[in-house]
Amino acid sequence: MYMSRPEARPAHVEVLVDGTPVLVPEGASAAAAVLMAGLPALRSTPITGAPRLPYCMMGVCFDCLAEINGVPNRQACMVTVEAGMRIAPQRGARAVEPR
Ligand code: FES
Repeated sequence: MYMSRPEARPAHVEVLVDGTPVLVPEGASAAAAVLMAGLPALRSTPITGAPRLPYCMMGVCFDCLAEINGVPNRQACMVTVEAGMRIAPQRGARAVEPR
């Protein structure tokens, strides 16, 4: 029987996914936290409103766009979780600030 050593287990951090606390292994991405939370969708498309969840997990598909700590249009798969991070779904298109 496999017995894991407590010191071998990864540390966890607590994040809020759509307001729900979720424990996530340290070093995981915000997209992984979303999948662990079991959300039905993280964003909807601007044109048809189709639901989307993280897909490629490597910064290619943009299906993981989310609001992270109040900042919209973040690729959740490219952001490492931090304790207390707030990850929220994003609906439709967001305004882009002019530079
Ligand atoms: S899951 Fe594809 S870009 Fe993030």
